[in-house]
Amino acid sequence: MAAKTLEDIPGVGPAIADKLREAGYTEIMNIAVAAPKDLAETCEIGEKKAMDIIEGAKLVADVGGFETGDTILQRRSSVTKLTTGSKALDELLGGGLESQAITEFFGEFGSCKTQVCFQLAVNATLPEDKGGLDSDVIMIDTENTFRPERIIQMANYLGLDPDATLKRIHIARAYNSQHQVLLVDKAMELAKDLKVRLLIVDSLTSHFRAEYLGRGALAERQQILNRHMHDLLSFATVNNAVIAVTNQVASKPDAFFGDPTKPIGGNIVGHTATFRIYLRKGKAGKRIARLIDSPNMPEGEAVFMVTEDGIKD
Ligand code: GTP
Ligand code: MG
Repeated sequence: MAAKTLEDIPGVGPAIADKLREAGYTEIMNIAVAAPKDLAETCEIGEKKAMDIIEGAKLVADVGGFETGDTILQRRSSVTKLTTGSKALDELLGGGLESQAITEFFGEFGSCKTQVCFQLAVNATLPEDKGGLDSDVIMIDTENTFRPERIIQMANYLGLDPDATLKRIHIARAYNSQHQVLLVDKAMELAKDLKVRLLIVDSLTSHFRAEYLGRGALAERQQILNRHMHDLLSFATVNNAVIAVTNQVASKPDAFFGDPTKPIGGNIVGHTATFRIYLRKGKAGKRIARLIDSPNMPEGEAVFMVTEDGIKD
């Protein structure tokens, strides 16, 4: 069966298809999960028409249809794992970070969330038999903390060519939450021409936290964050990719952000992330990772080190 194009959606002719593509809706799945209001605005069509297109896209993409267990088993059989660089942490995760899923690292400042992201980016360029994905990497950096120097150190330690490694890591700085959401569409485009099996968002929640203040903004924030998480999940499914996101914890008990050991973003992030790992500082450069809420792994802890060479046991 030939791959379906946007023109296969009922009511979408070449002109609307072009508008959709220009607006970044390049996949039927993107349209199926779009909000009618967004689609209407970006494509300058009525909201009713947008709703019809979304419904059509759902049918064509078979969203919300039932799949039999064997189909899911078959898709799951292509799941691969990405090493973190620490055996203990890999074991905690059942062999590494799973593709077709979102793994969330949360913890306070300095708990090495960003360092873990750098290590994952370098490791993803490794061949599969070395725990990598043999792929390019997309990194959405919301805090301007990308440091090529660290990538070079980690690549050198693994015997990789540092320049070649840097060339395989594609970084986009997200200036605000809206930009961050859009960058996932851009990532989807890039992944058409390049093999991209790791997408990192560091940090998932900082812009949202800064921009949507107070209780009144909570519902809107959660709605956009929800959509963002689902966009990430569709990137993971379409590209058999690993998604790694970071999240802060509230620094002080607070009526809005809640418990200081609880990640920001509440249930939306919690329910969409397949694996959640709480990172905290230990003694003498050690870091402790705790797996929380995994669908198929027991809860537990792993200790790893952050060194100049990267993440190690
Ligand atoms: P926020 O983004 O502020 O929430 O923190 P984070 O969790 O992303 O922390 P990050 O990954 O930036 O961790 C910073 C820590 O990593 C530092 O406090 C150091 O302990 C460690 N680190 C960073 N670079 C090096 C290095 O070259 N050598 C060693 N040994 N440790 C390093
Ligand atoms: Mg960080």
